[in-house]
Amino acid sequence: MSTRKTTIDHFAIDVETGLRTTPKFLSSKYFYNTEGDRLFQKIMAMPEYYLTNAEEEILFEQADDIRIAFGNQPLDIIELGAGDGSKTKFLLKNLVDNNVDVRYIPSDISSNILAELQSNFAKEIPKLKVITLAGDYFKSLVKLPDSANRKRVLLFLGANIGNLEKKHAVEFIGELKEFLNPGDSMMIGFDLKKDPQTILDAYNDSSGITAAFNINLLSRINVELDADFNIDQFSHWERYNPETGAARSYLVSRKKQKVTIGAIEQTFEFEAWETIRMELSQKYSIKDISELAENAGYKLTEQFIDGRGYFVDALFEIPT
Ligand SMILES: C[S@@+](CC[C@H](N)C(=O)[O-])C[C@H]1O[C@@H](n2cnc3c(N)ncnc32)[C@H](O)[C@@H]1O
Repeated sequence: MSTRKTTIDHFAIDVETGLRTTPKFLSSKYFYNTEGDRLFQKIMAMPEYYLTNAEEEILFEQADDIRIAFGNQPLDIIELGAGDGSKTKFLLKNLVDNNVDVRYIPSDISSNILAELQSNFAKEIPKLKVITLAGDYFKSLVKLPDSANRKRVLLFLGANIGNLEKKHAVEFIGELKEFLNPGDSMMIGFDLKKDPQTILDAYNDSSGITAAFNINLLSRINVELDADFNIDQFSHWERYNPETGAARSYLVSRKKQKVTIGAIEQTFEFEAWETIRMELSQKYSIKDISELAENAGYKLTEQFIDGRGYFVDALFEIPT
């Protein structure tokens, strides 16, 4: 079976499972087709989406400290869900300019964004060796090149970890240890708990880009799975719960309606105002982060925080 066919099968199975569950859900990992990648780049550029500036400031202004924390040795920097790498490049430039022997191995479920990353990096950091791995997180990791005599540093930036429920984050980070040796490390970007209004605004922009990003997944199902979602009959809704730290996006059916997905020959019914859960963006406190490190079997060694205290890139090490 071709890889494309297998990908479509997984997509169809996940969509069917999500729409047969109560309440309905769709996995946010399917947001990132070519249009989704383009919309996410627009989100990163929005003034309300403070996450980009905050993490970029850390990776640019604290690059020397991060390089020193990584240690003076040959490095394999492996990034999970790298996207366009537009923030990571500041750290990688610092490593290359300081003559660190570094290979950069970005992975992403979107082969489109990896191709863009590769072409930009070839122009902007031509001395950097880049090896791209397309696919879901763990499917990419099994294809990693051998890291003999090199320290592995996994990067999981951009608050991607927030897409996992907190208990799944512990399991996920724990399972990553399979790809790391004692002394290797992982740097994780966490969005910190802050003024609830600041958080809500980041996911509920007045220009409607985040709404379009969510709705785009219905359009993708229409095109790739031969479905008939009427996208005008679904609205985006965002909610932030400061008690749990969970920001969640929903699509809400504006009327009672039926949707047929041709590729799986199935029809799904929506009640008026029924929701589809789309994306979780979990916020963390510093205490939550040390508990996560401990529960997943890591040592929290450094925390690089931006000037406003909005975001942290935390270094987790595998104890030697
Ligand atoms: C929120 S964006 C962040 C991108 C980048 N880390 C940054 O900080 O700019 C999430 C990225 O993770 C990728 N992604 C989401 N789920 C994934 C999965 N299950 N496996 C691999 N990549 C995934 C998406 O394609 C997207 O590029």
